[in-house]
This record gives sequence, C-alpha cells and structure tokens, in this order.
Amino acid sequence: MENNNFDKIISFTKRRGFVFQSSDIYGGIGGFYDFGPLGVELRNNIKNSWWNYMVQKRENIFGLDSSIIMNPNVWRASGHIETFSDPLSECKKCHKRFRTDHLKENKCPECNGDLMEPRNFNLMFKTFIGPVEDDTSIAYLRPETAQGIFVNYKNILNTQRTKIPFGIAQIGKAFRNEITPGNFIFRMREFEQMEMEYFVKPGKEDEAFKYWIEQRVNWYTNVLGIKKENLRVREQEKDELAHYAKGCVDIEYNFPVGWLEIEGIASRGDFDLSQHQKFSGEDLNYFDIETKEKYLPSVIEPSCGLDRIFLAVLCDAFNEIEGGRTQESEEKEFLLKLKSNIAPVKVAVLPLVKNKEEITTKAKEVYNMLKDNFSCQYDETGAIGRRYRRQDEIGTPWAVTIDFESIVNNDVTLRNRDTMEQQRVKISDLISIINEN
Ligand code: GAP
Repeated sequence: MENNNFDKIISFTKRRGFVFQSSDIYGGIGGFYDFGPLGVELRNNIKNSWWNYMVQKRENIFGLDSSIIMNPNVWRASGHIETFSDPLSECKKCHKRFRTDHLKENKCPECNGDLMEPRNFNLMFKTFIGPVEDDTSIAYLRPETAQGIFVNYKNILNTQRTKIPFGIAQIGKAFRNEITPGNFIFRMREFEQMEMEYFVKPGKEDEAFKYWIEQRVNWYTNVLGIKKENLRVREQEKDELAHYAKGCVDIEYNFPVGWLEIEGIASRGDFDLSQHQKFSGEDLNYFDIETKEKYLPSVIEPSCGLDRIFLAVLCDAFNEIEGGRTQESEEKEFLLKLKSNIAPVKVAVLPLVKNKEEITTKAKEVYNMLKDNFSCQYDETGAIGRRYRRQDEIGTPWAVTIDFESIVNNDVTLRNRDTMEQQRVKISDLISIINEN
C-alpha cells in the first residue's frame, strides 16, 4: 500500500462520518479527534469483540473500570513521574519542538535552524484537584489504564475468590501530551487503551508470555479478520524496552505508511506490584493456600490501542475499484470488506422505489423487524445501484430490497456485499439467514 492510499482512507473516514477533527469549526486541536456515527459503531464493535474474547469467554479474567484521575502517588510508584518522558529538541531559530528520536538530522526540519541540546519532556497531562492550584493539588490524567488495574489487584483478588493465574482487564481513555502527534489517529494525545494484566506465579511468565502472544494474534486475524500478511510480531530491542519491562514484543500492522505498533505484550515481572507495595505500605503478596507459599506474582501484559486497531481495520478492509464493480457504473467505487461482526451497519433496508406507499410501508415493517436484532439503516433515496454502492463503501454486509413482488409473496432480495449475489428469501426467514451467515 502506498502513502496516497493513506490520504484516501483519511478523507474517506471524514466524508462518511467515521472520524472528525476535534473542535473542527474552531480549526481543530492537534492530537484530538471525534468519532462520528459510523466510527462509534465500529469502535464499539471492536471493543465488544475484545471484551468478549478477553473477559467473557474466560473464567479467570475479570473486568474493571477504574478512574482516570488517581492519587498522584500511583504515578510516583509506577515511575511515570520520574521516567515517562520523551527527548525533546527545540529549534533555536523558529522555536518549534520535535521528538529528538524522530529527527533524521541535527537541523530543524521546518527552517533548517540549529537545535538546542535535547531535554526530557514528561508526557503526563497535569491538572489540579479542588479550588487551590498549588503543588499539593497536582494530579495527572492517566497515561495508561494499567496502573488502575495494579492498584485494584488486591480488591479483585479478595472479592472474586480467585486463584493465580488470573487476569484483570480494562478498556478506557488514556492521555499523553505527545510532542509530535501525527499519522492521523495513530499518535494522539487522547486515545483509548484495551489492557489486561495477567498475574502468574514467578517462573511461569515465559509460558504465559508465549500463550498471550498466540492468543492476541489469533484475535486480530481470526476474530477481526485482519489479513495475516499485514500483521507481524516483532521483539523489542533492549534499548526500546520501557522502564518496567523484562521483555516485550510489538504486534505491528502494515499501514500504508509502514509497519507500526498496534499492541505491545510485555513481561513486567513484579515491578508494578512491588513498587505499589513499597509506596503504599500495603502487603500485596499472594498467599498460595495449597503450597503455603507467599509471593508477589509476575505479570504479563497485552496492551493495545483501540484507535490504532480501528485504523488498521479500516486500512485492511479498504478497496478502491477503478471503473466500478458493475457494468452499469463506470465510476471509481470503494468497497470496505469489514468482517460482519465489526461492520458498523449489518443490514441496509432499501425499498426499490420511494413513491409507492405499499413498498415503503412493507420496507419499514422489515426495517422494524430487523432493527431489534441488527444495526440497520433504512435508505430510500437515489437509484438502487447507487444505494448499494453507498452501503458497500461503509462495509454493510447485507442489503435487503423490497419490491413489488414482496407485497404479494412476503419475500425480499438479500444481497451479499462481497459477491454481489442476490437471493430471494422469505421475510420470515431473514433473521435466521443473516444470523447463520
Ligand atoms: N501499559 C502499557 C502501555 O501503555 P504502550 O506501548 O505505551 O504500553 C500500549 O501503549 C498501546 O497503546 C500501544 O500499543 C498503542 O496501540 C496505544 N498507544 C500508545 N500511545 C498512543 C498514542 N499516543 N495514540 C494512540 N494510541 C497509543
């Protein structure tokens, strides 16, 4: 895929209401985005799929929704106040700032001016709690959801009557004051993470690490339907590892702009629990009743970014067809081959014509019946071919057309997005046929 494909995908997501620049009418704000009607459906479907795969289908993984702002000591203990920073270089001439490790040479990429010595820039957003703004009221927006999990480790252990190994999963917003946000929604300042911390007996981490890498790749390819050749697992080099990680692999997607990380799977040892034990004074040891051993568990963490997966899924499904797919259309067409479980709209309900009341009434009946089971769109404007193309473009797997015969026979045409095949089916069979497929 080429760069200009990325531009096409970006403009497509805006045109069809998947993604908007945040505060658009004010000229936007760097690193923040809003998600429109189709975007929010696609995101919810990805989130639900992750939750179902990671939490609901597993007996020993528990869900959590912790607060975004936490006691600042959490970030002291986790090391974020001290070390969660990127090197920043400022141009002496135009005073623009850049991430040092993203610069190709030692000159300003904007004006070619000389750069100052790099300094470390902490990525956490600061705020104040209560009416007084001083050092004692400083708080931070969480830069990862993981710490909310670690500080609740004991609560979950005590309330859920579980045993090691077990995991805690959470989906939620995270905030990083990125020096250079970019690549559309790839690097943002407000984004959403889906993280799971898996607690194991020390010594069992390598086995669990391997297991979760396999599980996560399986989710991308078999559940989300991302093409295998567009996904790779890359082991991080020693100098890339975060301060807490003993080992880490990145799952990367082949974006039109190159291979980039969508998920990190880290072996965190007992770093976080031992730090929180030290800073909070709470005993966070696990007591094994059978072996009478007491220990701090080791942690394996699969951590992914919803926005990056959303972008990967769109890039993977995006097809541009020069000259159109049918003989009647010669224009360029777009086809979004999303797997049906994540498609924002599952069924389009289309009366063949809009000026015949019996047909539109029947179509609305069908729509009302289907919308209790699937996310549906009713569309009666424009020629039928054009309406099919509008649905193909947003990845709707099924289109149901109601015509003159439907009134007499109580049947409709069911069209498949990918094959464009049309079959005649009874209205009463629609739900089960769509469900089966
Ligand atoms: N708890 C571990 C952790 O936060 P990370 O590699 O910094 O690890 C995990 O982040 C995932 O969060 C990344 O793989 C990426 O998908 C997503 N992510 C991180 N920073 C992001 C940003 N600025 N914009 C969008 N997604 C981001």
